[in-house]
Amino acid sequence: MSPSSSQRKIVVTSALPYANGPIHIGHMVEYTQTDIWVRFQKMQGHECIYVCADDAHGTPIMLSAQAAGITPQQLIDRVKQEHEQDFADFGVGFDNFYSTHSEENKYFATTIYQRLRDGGHIATRTISQSYDPKAEMFLPDRFIKGTCPNCGAEDQYGDNCEVCGATYDPTELKNPRSVVTGETPIEKDSEQYFFKLGDFSDMLKEWTRAGHIQKEIANKMDEWLEDGLRDWDISRNAPYWGFEIPDAPGKYFYVWMDAPIGYLASFKNWCDRTGHDFDEYWKPDSKAELYHFIGKDIARFHTLFFPAMLYGAGFRMPTAVYCHGFLTVDGQKMSKSRGTNIKARTYLDHLNPEYLRYYFAAKLGSGIEDIDLNLHDFMSRVNSDLVGKVVNIASRCAGFIVKKFDGKLSDSVADNSLNEKFLTAAKTIAKDYEDREFAKAMREIMALADLANQYIDEQEPWVRIKDEAQQQNVQDTCSIGINCFRQLIILLKPVLPKLAAQAETFLNVEPLRWADLDNHLLGHTINKFKPLMTRIEQDKIDAIIEASKEVAEHKPQASPADSNIEPIADEISIDDFAKLDLRVARIVEAKAVKKADKLLQLTLDIGCEQRNVFAGIKAAYDPQDLQGKLTVMVANLAPRKMRFGVSEGMVLAAGPGGKEIYILSPDDGAKPGMRIK
Ligand code: MSP
Ligand code: ZN
Repeated sequence: MSPSSSQRKIVVTSALPYANGPIHIGHMVEYTQTDIWVRFQKMQGHECIYVCADDAHGTPIMLSAQAAGITPQQLIDRVKQEHEQDFADFGVGFDNFYSTHSEENKYFATTIYQRLRDGGHIATRTISQSYDPKAEMFLPDRFIKGTCPNCGAEDQYGDNCEVCGATYDPTELKNPRSVVTGETPIEKDSEQYFFKLGDFSDMLKEWTRAGHIQKEIANKMDEWLEDGLRDWDISRNAPYWGFEIPDAPGKYFYVWMDAPIGYLASFKNWCDRTGHDFDEYWKPDSKAELYHFIGKDIARFHTLFFPAMLYGAGFRMPTAVYCHGFLTVDGQKMSKSRGTNIKARTYLDHLNPEYLRYYFAAKLGSGIEDIDLNLHDFMSRVNSDLVGKVVNIASRCAGFIVKKFDGKLSDSVADNSLNEKFLTAAKTIAKDYEDREFAKAMREIMALADLANQYIDEQEPWVRIKDEAQQQNVQDTCSIGINCFRQLIILLKPVLPKLAAQAETFLNVEPLRWADLDNHLLGHTINKFKPLMTRIEQDKIDAIIEASKEVAEHKPQASPADSNIEPIADEISIDDFAKLDLRVARIVEAKAVKKADKLLQLTLDIGCEQRNVFAGIKAAYDPQDLQGKLTVMVANLAPRKMRFGVSEGMVLAAGPGGKEIYILSPDDGAKPGMRIK
């Protein structure tokens, strides 16, 4: 096959990072995975164009800018610079990194909208949404907080509860308030624009089962497809940071409408910069391939909404959408308090980015399972594989070649049975890269490194060098070793571009390509060996964790002995406090409740009346000890129906629970019924 007939044209994207926060190592899973795949394709000689952009629109960005006292444009410009620097330093080689707040994106968002509208796929409807009367803006679900309607947990977002996992409508929240002003939201009607996703239901049912997306994701999407696809609200009311809808003044495209269109915009910008024809890649019957790499959290947008939009507007559809799982650190979600929410920049301040690229590669497969960064395993894996195996081969051989043979490799090497094994394995490894089975590829590459090291061990050049008659043998052994190293570098180059560049300097060769596996350095002069990679030291990892620790705002910093102290709740006004009616109460009777292992049933005298109250203090108190005791109760709490009867108030007690509960009692002299102020 001649190179031209087999050369593929490939467009690749990673998801567009939000322009209101820094890149963290969780993001880096995706950009590393994509970058490795792209570098592999480029090394094969294919035209592979990797584009991305900042996702620069939406309410959070508008409000972040407001809070920082700058314009949204200033915010997104600053963040874009930071993102680009982080990516460059991690070796992520975008062909174009752009912004969704661009002329190109405005053009494509508008065009796609107009084509969908003209095709009859846009509907308008008046709907009622939460509105902050003080900020004079509609509130996204995430900007409303309140008490969970399901479990009563306070301070939960408008769409789901982080305590019990319930999902709901913001209107169902109890005591809802706007995160922007603290105001109670009201419901307000307005007209909105909807994309009629259901029009594409049949097409999507077929497309999602035609090998374009992973099975697990297709199964997940089936749930939506089976339920019937609902219209998707693609508009937002002013004030909104985004593009105004052309025929609807005061209405803006929802950020998730123009975000994926940013892929087209960034690619168009690349075409204009480099003199390529956009349509050749994006027309419906394009011969080019198009791949989107994304996290599993945003699959629905990429496997239903976006393909339908492209299809409906007369553009090509993706060749494939590849989802990956989420990063955990030491088996847990990244956490600010544990110091595992590590920013890309913090990592870069302490460690070589290629360590992390290698570790991610060693963990990544083609599936959607989460991947864990185990910090101890990270250190030992990098040290033993990269430093101990790969780089070691060069450092064992280079010294002899440079010192004893003027840096010159043998003109020919008789016995090179290793080479055959390398070339056979390289075929499997190439397939693994293509299939995104990077972990498998890394294992196979390290097995080859083991073979090379074993070979050198057996030949013992350090022994033979002392024997005048064995000089040729030493030169041959080390030449084979150096050639093995060169092949390993080719195989690892998609993952470790920086190491590869240093190795190319050391080997004194042009940038290596996959095809270079087949030829060898013979009679070639190499340069002096400089250590290519050093071991990771534990203190570097400790420093990263330390620098990433953030004490949550407003929470008092608890000393270790006090680690059970709960954070102080949100501030309330004196008026809020005055609503509480707290009374001194006498416990007239206390008894255990049958079949309730935590509850005591109390009869409380509050002067004017008696109350029946259930209190979860059974583990801490013997009922007899309570009788006659004075305590404090909330007297104006709405009665609650419980399994064993109605509870008409609440007794005040302190402590985490179980045996550690302490009911409050007033000082001597207090009388039942006195109000506490
Ligand atoms: N702006 C949207 C994407 C729009 S694409 C048209 C977005 N941005 S993001 O910054 O939140 O995430 C960018 C990518 O990083 C997503 O694919 C997301 O899944 C991925 N990740 C974010 N955190 C991650 C981990 N902790 N682990 C792995 N990937 C993660 O979503
Ligand atoms: Zn809940």
